[in-house]
Amino acid sequence: MSFCVITAIRLLLYLSVFCLFLAPSSAYAHARPWWSPNLDATAAHGPLPLDVRTDLHFPLHARGTNNDGSLPIYKDPNAPIENRVNDLLPRMTLEEKIAQLIQGDLDGWMNLTDPNDDTLTYNATGLVTELTSKAGAIWGGYLMPWDKWVYGITIGQRYLIENTTLGIPAIVQSEALHGFTNNGTTWPSPIGLAASFNAPLLHAAAATIGTEAAALGFSQVFAPVLDLSRELRWGRVEENYGEDPFLTGEMGLAYVSGIQEGTRPNTSATAVARVAATCKHFAAYGSPQGGLNIAPVAGGERELRTYYLRPFERACAGVEPTLSLMSAYASYDGVPSVANYHLLTEILREEWGYPYFVTTDAGSVDLLISTHGTCATRECAAKDALENGLQMEMGGGSYTYLTLPDQVAAGTVDMRYVDLAVATVLRTKFALGLFENPYPYEDYLSMLRTPATRELLHQMEQEQIVLLQNNNSTLPLSKNIGSIALIGPQVNRVTLGDYVFHNATLNCLTPLQGFTELLASTYVRINFAQGCELWSNDESQIPAAVAAAEASDAAIVMVGTWSLDQTLLWEPGTNATTGEHVDLSSLALVGAQLSLVQAVQAVGKPTIVIFVSGKPVAEPWIQDNADAVVQQFYYGELGGLAIAEIIFGDANPSGKLPVSFPHSVGTTPAFYNYLKGGRPIDPGYVAPNGTLVFGHQVREYVLDTPVPMWSFGHGLSYTTFNYTNLLVYPSTIGANDDFNVTVTVHNTGTVDGKEVVQASLIYLTDVVSSVVTPNQFLAGFQKVFIPAGGSETVTIQINSTQLALWSLDNTWVVEPGDFAVKVGTSDTTYLNATMTVQ
Ligand SMILES: *[C@@H]1O[C@H](CO)[C@@H](O)[C@H](O)[C@H]1NC(C)=O
Ligand SMILES: *[C@@H]1O[C@H](CO)[C@@H](O)[C@H](O)[C@H]1NC(C)=O
Ligand SMILES: *[C@@H]1O[C@H](CO)[C@@H](O)[C@H](O)[C@H]1NC(C)=O
Ligand SMILES: *[C@@H]1O[C@H](CO)[C@@H](O)[C@H](O)[C@H]1NC(C)=O
Ligand SMILES: *[C@@H]1O[C@H](CO)[C@@H](O)[C@H](O)[C@H]1NC(C)=O
Ligand SMILES: *[C@@H]1O[C@H](CO)[C@@H](O)[C@H](O)[C@H]1NC(C)=O
Ligand SMILES: *[C@@H]1O[C@H](CO)[C@@H](O)[C@H](O)[C@H]1NC(C)=O
Ligand SMILES: *[C@@H]1O[C@H](CO)[C@@H](O)[C@H](O)[C@H]1NC(C)=O
Ligand SMILES: *[C@@H]1O[C@H](CO)[C@@H](O)[C@H](O)[C@H]1NC(C)=O
Ligand SMILES: *[C@@H]1O[C@H](CO)[C@@H](O)[C@H](O)[C@H]1NC(C)=O
Ligand SMILES: *[C@@H]1O[C@H](CO)[C@@H](O)[C@H](O)[C@H]1NC(C)=O
Ligand SMILES: *[C@@H]1O[C@H](CO)[C@@H](O)[C@H](O)[C@H]1NC(C)=O
Repeated sequence: MSFCVITAIRLLLYLSVFCLFLAPSSAYAHARPWWSPNLDATAAHGPLPLDVRTDLHFPLHARGTNNDGSLPIYKDPNAPIENRVNDLLPRMTLEEKIAQLIQGDLDGWMNLTDPNDDTLTYNATGLVTELTSKAGAIWGGYLMPWDKWVYGITIGQRYLIENTTLGIPAIVQSEALHGFTNNGTTWPSPIGLAASFNAPLLHAAAATIGTEAAALGFSQVFAPVLDLSRELRWGRVEENYGEDPFLTGEMGLAYVSGIQEGTRPNTSATAVARVAATCKHFAAYGSPQGGLNIAPVAGGERELRTYYLRPFERACAGVEPTLSLMSAYASYDGVPSVANYHLLTEILREEWGYPYFVTTDAGSVDLLISTHGTCATRECAAKDALENGLQMEMGGGSYTYLTLPDQVAAGTVDMRYVDLAVATVLRTKFALGLFENPYPYEDYLSMLRTPATRELLHQMEQEQIVLLQNNNSTLPLSKNIGSIALIGPQVNRVTLGDYVFHNATLNCLTPLQGFTELLASTYVRINFAQGCELWSNDESQIPAAVAAAEASDAAIVMVGTWSLDQTLLWEPGTNATTGEHVDLSSLALVGAQLSLVQAVQAVGKPTIVIFVSGKPVAEPWIQDNADAVVQQFYYGELGGLAIAEIIFGDANPSGKLPVSFPHSVGTTPAFYNYLKGGRPIDPGYVAPNGTLVFGHQVREYVLDTPVPMWSFGHGLSYTTFNYTNLLVYPSTIGANDDFNVTVTVHNTGTVDGKEVVQASLIYLTDVVSSVVTPNQFLAGFQKVFIPAGGSETVTIQINSTQLALWSLDNTWVVEPGDFAVKVGTSDTTYLNATMTVQ
């Protein structure tokens, strides 16, 4: 109740600002934010315009034409987008406007019960019913034969364009977090894409994903996820680009620009993208209390700005902004994100000038009633979301926005909020060129799952694998080895992350198939034993695994976590260990897996442990006892082959950890960019023989350490590198100047290799900054190929904005003083220097 009162007060304030804008039209022209629609016309009709303009246009049935027979501006492909928006908006009825704010669904007119059914029929009554009230977007993320999809979506768009008065096409939506989910190519999960530390490669990957989606007539995909993996118990860690705001922003930008690249054929010159990427989840969703999905996030303004918002500003609100955003389910500091005026309006619109629309996540407006408890009714929920800055409502709930026509008529919701919201949706549609061509491409088949895409995928599969530990150069294995044991529950299955379509695994190789294929032309024998399940304590298969290790020259044990696809994930009674709504209280291996590794290691053969997982696995015993440890985050279609290629040295590992691996949940958070003062001096530990060795009690756990097993940025290679000639230029700058860090990297080993160069900065002002800042933060990275014996000089530009802190005055400030510049991983320094801000 009280929330609604506060909202009412805010509305009064907001309206008075609006009135200021609206009163003299010249003042309005200056004061109006550039992204807002021109409301002059509606204002002329009084404070609450409830219907269409009839003065300039024909009445209702003929609003798509002009009285004088001229082409309406909104239909003119050459007219500026803002003119088209401003011409179209006043022609719309209230119901048509609200329909633009609601996501419709292909199942309104197509029978999608059987994913294998290929009958090309539709329900004409259902089509009209669905698209009359829900026409902003059409959800189409269904698995079905491509020709049936093309048929169904063409029916929908043709109806909107040809049979409705105004002819407004819909935005067509699906998922594409790591591959387009209507049987497009499946890529590694985002955590793996990030581990490649190869932004240009991710850009190229995203471009193929965008092409697959656009070809089938999709115009929006719900990706990328820019949440930070600072809370590792959370099930969705696999969907993020790791724990670091800069890496997340750069990878996010690469993804967005790849997805949106180019324009649809036969469309207007003002179109800016073919498919809208969707930055989500806005904002701070990734740190729910207890790691429980959707749980509240605690934090203040400085934490929000310093960590959570940076990737969004970088990847989504720059000169080529993403064409949409999605709000988060959670509340932040007590304010639900779907109705967070500060986030959705003050920051996103007023500070960043964001012009396009924000959609909710599925069913999330209803959560104001059922979860957050800030509203008692659907009317309140719809009003709070809309007025605070949320434009489109997704399905999955009760469609609270259907209450808006009555609320506007009753005067409880001001039409101006509706107009502002609708304008953002129309602007997006014009920017996508949909008014000219909303249809699937005729030659779509030639763009799906192509050999060129597969080649790029192969490179990404190799580059995402991280070599964590390699005692005495256990790896790579020689193809002259007599036999290997392939052991573990991850060997003879395909483990994809969440957000893949049902049966996507059928397009993939298992690791067992990959090793078999790679070794087909050798004499290496493979002894396979599963050993245990990913989800069970049953140890009865372990003796067979031990026997396989005994019969082999080396043992490879593949263990980890597992996720489910978008169909099975939501079925009750499944037992996945990661994924959306699948949170963990422990990061240790589930079930009998550690016992399996221990039994195999005890055989005494070289033991290589491969974690296939969507998040860090916390098993210090394995770090202490395995001869080599490899991390393969949830892979894509060629992951089974890529891991074999890495193990046998056909490819050189070049991945780096985008997220730190803690010793246990009790020692988290493990992220490397903790605020100064966050790490121990003298930690204790429990010795392998059981002795309790107590730490000296200053900022430590008396029997453990918060220093991760492997930190952000860690990742070994089969070759060795050294770094020389670190140059910071200029080494003294003004607060608004950019500077360059240059370093020469030498491949001093005998193996060709890729290496990630990271320039990390310590953020300080003569050791003192006015507020507490991160002990270090990533400010640049670049991946270069360096042949054996060769060297490369890398220059990374660092912008002054990257040095700014969120000051006590609540502004970004670059403070004078020294910044330490370090080249290395987050915990290994190769070279360092100082840069001074005057
Ligand atoms: C939809 O298709 C399924 C089989 O694919 C069929 O059993 C069902 O009756 C159909 N539904 C309607 C409403 O036609
Ligand atoms: C067609 O859609 C209408 C409206 O949604 C629905 O009432 C009807 O049952 C549907 N018909 C079939 C055959 O599915
Ligand atoms: C759309 O209009 C065409 C031509 O007037 C008509 O044949 C068709 O039945 C209409 N479709 C629907 C779904 O109303
Ligand atoms: C995906 O597309 C391929 C064609 O490239 C086809 O062979 C396969 O059956 C499709 N899979 C599904 C689940 O539709
Ligand atoms: C490396 O091999 C040497 C000689 O076999 C052995 O003494 C040493 O313990 C090994 N080191 C590691 C880290 O396994
Ligand atoms: C998924 O694959 C399984 C195994 O091949 C098959 O039995 C099932 O019919 C497939 N499901 C769909 C919806 O295609
Ligand atoms: C876990 O799920 C798998 C696959 O769905 C199933 O085969 C297995 O029986 C389940 N195990 C348990 C313990 O529920
Ligand atoms: C057990 O380990 C601790 C720590 O490494 C060591 O100080 C102690 O001597 C060991 N005790 C025995 C009985 O080996
Ligand atoms: C930094 O390097 C880029 C080229 O990599 C160059 O264009 C730019 O001028 C350099 N900036 C400074 C301050 O030297
Ligand atoms: C780094 O490697 C290069 C090429 O092998 C060599 O010339 C140089 O001396 C090395 N520098 C350091 C600091 O190890
Ligand atoms: C730094 O600024 C340049 C343009 O001056 C821009 O191209 C680049 O993307 C910026 N980099 C970062 C990390 O902000
Ligand atoms: C490099 O780091 C060391 C160790 O922290 C420090 O003593 C030294 O002053 C640093 N050098 C520069 C040039 O900043």
